[in-house]
Amino acid sequence: MDKIVIEGGHPLKGTVRVNGAKNSAVALLPASILADSEVTIDGLPDISDVDTLNSILEDIGATITKDTNQTVHIDPSSTVSVPLPNGKVKKLRASYYLMGAMLGKFKRAAIGLPGGCYLGPRPIDQHIKGFEALGAKVTNEKGALYLEADELRGARIYLDVVSVGATINIMLAAVLAKGKTTIENAAKEPEIIDVATLLTNMGANIKGVGTDIIRIEGVDKLHGCVHTIIPDRIEAGTYVIAAAAQGEDVVIDNVIPEHLESLLAKLREMGVVIEQGDEQLRITTPNKLTSVDIKTLVYPGFPTDLQQPFTTLLTKTEGTSIVTDTIYQARLKHIDELRRMNAKIKIEGGSAIVTGPVQLEGAFVKASDLRAGASLVIAGLMSKGNTEITGVEHIERGYEKMTEKLIQLGANIRSEKMSQREIEQMNIQLK
Ligand code: EPU
Repeated sequence: MDKIVIEGGHPLKGTVRVNGAKNSAVALLPASILADSEVTIDGLPDISDVDTLNSILEDIGATITKDTNQTVHIDPSSTVSVPLPNGKVKKLRASYYLMGAMLGKFKRAAIGLPGGCYLGPRPIDQHIKGFEALGAKVTNEKGALYLEADELRGARIYLDVVSVGATINIMLAAVLAKGKTTIENAAKEPEIIDVATLLTNMGANIKGVGTDIIRIEGVDKLHGCVHTIIPDRIEAGTYVIAAAAQGEDVVIDNVIPEHLESLLAKLREMGVVIEQGDEQLRITTPNKLTSVDIKTLVYPGFPTDLQQPFTTLLTKTEGTSIVTDTIYQARLKHIDELRRMNAKIKIEGGSAIVTGPVQLEGAFVKASDLRAGASLVIAGLMSKGNTEITGVEHIERGYEKMTEKLIQLGANIRSEKMSQREIEQMNIQLK
């Protein structure tokens, strides 16, 4: 088991390059099985969620060859509908995309209900509503969903909640269905457009992606293609926030600035100076930052995945800021850890009220989920003294080589093996 050790206070300077988007990658890999010949995906992030999905695809018969960890060739021609009620599928949330992909391809699937970060309740009722509308019978037995259809037929589906997962999953199931499917109140995240681009290059007929209404005309077959993943806007946003918090002069490379407009607008409101190029952002920060309020919303609103890192940044702003997560109200596990580091944050009526500026102080803290981990790493960079972060496995699920990238920017940060005594102490605290 690893921990991250950070000696805080070193200014960040230089260039950091962003990888392909995790939340695209985890949908593109399952989507590839819908083809009947080889799909090449380029720009995959080297993270544990991608490793887990690759391994699940091999379990169902796909042949995966890698040029590098970033470029994989998936030959889905021998895939079969192996039931996956338990095991690796429970390790990550995105295994739910195998429901749509396997239902679309084989007209049957058995998939364990997904794991992933605990952010409060994360129902998948809208995914199921979509599968049923397309003609699938869905049953839940002992924590696994069993989906079966004689034939999938296009349908008109209105999502009661705007959901990234449900929008993509219904697209996956509908591209090979007979006739026309309409998804109303669809989500508009860039990752959805990326998945639709792959499916279109495979021969699917999809219109309206990036708007509220997606129209799909089913086709009989899909074929292989080559696809390059979009840059990860959340990884980029995390480094932008780190730069605003502890940077002298930082360039973020391989970013689509338009994907981060809500974050950049808030940072400018705070006084952060941002120079915007076609694929780069340059961040310089004055000594004093003004407090701002944020409310997370579906895209193009402020992303919930950046709420936790942003809360850390707010500890150094002058005044009071209010943070409200309307997507995951319980995504506040980082707050107790930030308080251990001297942050002044109260929770009132589901919002976090941050009072600043404070000088954060190094402490022993635990990452409870992926983005909480990112928020604690940024806190460690800003702190006086040393910070030790456990729960590193959460960070490795979504950030490629985070410590190496921060070292390149001048941070004093390293991964270390935890001693037996530290592991025992951590287990006692967990009980
Ligand atoms: N929701 C429902 N019913 C559903 C589906 C969603 O009520 O059937 C609710 C959720 O409880 C939540 C809201 O709708 O309150 C939005 O959920 P959504 O389905 O959009 O989220 P998701 O697909 O489960 C993806 C990302 C998350 C990211 C959210 C929101 C993946 C694998 N995960 O989750 O990413 O926070 O969209 O943008 O794409 C992360 O990367 O750290 C992460 C958690």
